[in-house]
Amino acid sequence: MAWTERQQAMLDAMGLRLWVPPVLDVASEAVEVAPVSAPLAAAPAVITPAVRARADIAALDWPSLRTAVAGCTACGLCQSRTQTVFGVGHPRAQWLVVGEAPGAEEDAQGEPFVGASGQLLDRMLAALQLTRSSEGDAPPSQRVYIANTLKCRPPRNRNPSIEEMAQCEPFLVRQIELLQPRIILAMGKFAVQALLRSDEPIGKLRGRVHRYQGVPLVVTYHPAYLLRSLQEKAKAWEDLCLAADVAEGADRPS
Ligand code: URA
Repeated sequence: MAWTERQQAMLDAMGLRLWVPPVLDVASEAVEVAPVSAPLAAAPAVITPAVRARADIAALDWPSLRTAVAGCTACGLCQSRTQTVFGVGHPRAQWLVVGEAPGAEEDAQGEPFVGASGQLLDRMLAALQLTRSSEGDAPPSQRVYIANTLKCRPPRNRNPSIEEMAQCEPFLVRQIELLQPRIILAMGKFAVQALLRSDEPIGKLRGRVHRYQGVPLVVTYHPAYLLRSLQEKAKAWEDLCLAADVAEGADRPS
């Protein structure tokens, strides 16, 4: 099989030499509608301050959303964080990458995915000519916005709790509404839980196109997992190619 330039670049970026991907037939991929209205935690039956706060967040523009995140004290993570990590990228990026939560380096720098897993992510994105930078003259189709499910670092990088995810969720929901991405790449279990309300393993959800509020969504492994499980890199590459095909319009009905 002949590799395209893009495929070769991706293989190089991910440190892979020989791998033959299956032929992707995006048109025949199952399209799933995620029950995104399902609550992460039991929904409050009355109008509590938290419910009011959700409605307020849903009306914010980019600058006021950033300010709201920076001042958030809705859960205990505000006590241990150095700073919130809002997200990075151009507000008109066509790609949205959603991760889990800031780690130590992200907490220190205030930007998502700046540690080792972020470097792998950047290499993977660069192989597709995609950039998180909001500078320069790249078209929206080559721009990626990166956000996390949680905006604050859980102490010692422990898993986010359901309560923390529920409190933080309106921020990500609003980021998606404002961005209106053409493709969402959900990386890892917590992004998948937040966006698809699914506890299925990544291995079962990847390889097909899901939907979040009508937006095509592709599931893939978290880069931190890829750093530990080299054999899964090929699958992540396949997922990125699927997302790229969808972003380029291959899933549009003719
Ligand atoms: N892992 C994530 O999910 N997000 C980050 O920002 C860093 C590491």
